[in-house]
Amino acid sequence: MPNLLAGKVGIISGALDERSIAWKVAQKAYAEGARFVLTNAPLAMRMGEINKLSEECEAPIIPADATSMDDLEKLFSGTQEHFGGKIDFVLHSIGMSTNIRKGKHYGELNYEWFQKTLDVSALSLHRMLAVAEKQDAFNEWGSVVALSYIAAQRAFLDYTDMSQAKAVLESIARSYGQRLGKLKKVRVNTISQSPTKTSAGTGISGFDAFYEYAERMSPLGNAPAEACADYCVSLFSDLTRYVTMQNLMHDGGFSTTGISEEMVELLTNSKA
Ligand code: NAI
Repeated sequence: MPNLLAGKVGIISGALDERSIAWKVAQKAYAEGARFVLTNAPLAMRMGEINKLSEECEAPIIPADATSMDDLEKLFSGTQEHFGGKIDFVLHSIGMSTNIRKGKHYGELNYEWFQKTLDVSALSLHRMLAVAEKQDAFNEWGSVVALSYIAAQRAFLDYTDMSQAKAVLESIARSYGQRLGKLKKVRVNTISQSPTKTSAGTGISGFDAFYEYAERMSPLGNAPAEACADYCVSLFSDLTRYVTMQNLMHDGGFSTTGISEEMVELLTNSKA
């Protein structure tokens, strides 16, 4: 169904390069008729990749560090100014852990970095929504999607402090979903996505093993970034107006699988 997002205006964060989930969301949203502002941390802009996407999607860029209220205020007011009206959708696709980057294991986390992880990867959703609320930036029946990972519910030790960040992110989506639902009929959800080969994903130690394990455990296989983008588009569209405060599994069936035939075979063969 083309033009699922015709007439809708939004903000898409987190497109770093062509592998980014947000990059695919931007392409799909544009193809469905949406107009939007692209945003990323000023540091990430230096790589310049985002300019290609900006041209392709006719989308202006407003840099914003997601931990800076000043930047976020400029982002939301600048977007409304640019489009001459309020916003219908926001994609939060932001994650960063210095503990992961520096290869710290779970028993030796640096707590300053831990706090930074929480600020960048989780509290930033609260900051965005608080700014939007103060500016009364949303149209009624707007939609917010943030990207999460199953390590919020299950122990994946290599995901270190990002596990806690995702748990906080999902909780903020529920609480702010309740508030914005009542105030503006705006819905807030998280999508819990399969391991995906992006810059953030492949930075995690043992990522290839995570990826392969999830691939073998999921009856449908790992969900690719393009399919995640389709799901985001459906959540921004009017077809999902009463879905809110949910953590939505987009994982090919991984989260509800106990064991798969592939894993049984693999483990049986490895013993033989
Ligand atoms: P990515 O590396 O392409 O995107 C992460 C983005 O966060 C980058 O664009 C980066 O510049 C941005 N960012 C970091 N610090 C920021 C700050 N202070 N202010 C604003 N932006 C900042 O990787 P990917 O995988 O597309 O990540 C997007 C989201 O998807 C993240 O929340 C990630 O945790 C989540 N996710 C990724 C999975 C994967 O396996 N790749 C699986 C499940 C969820």
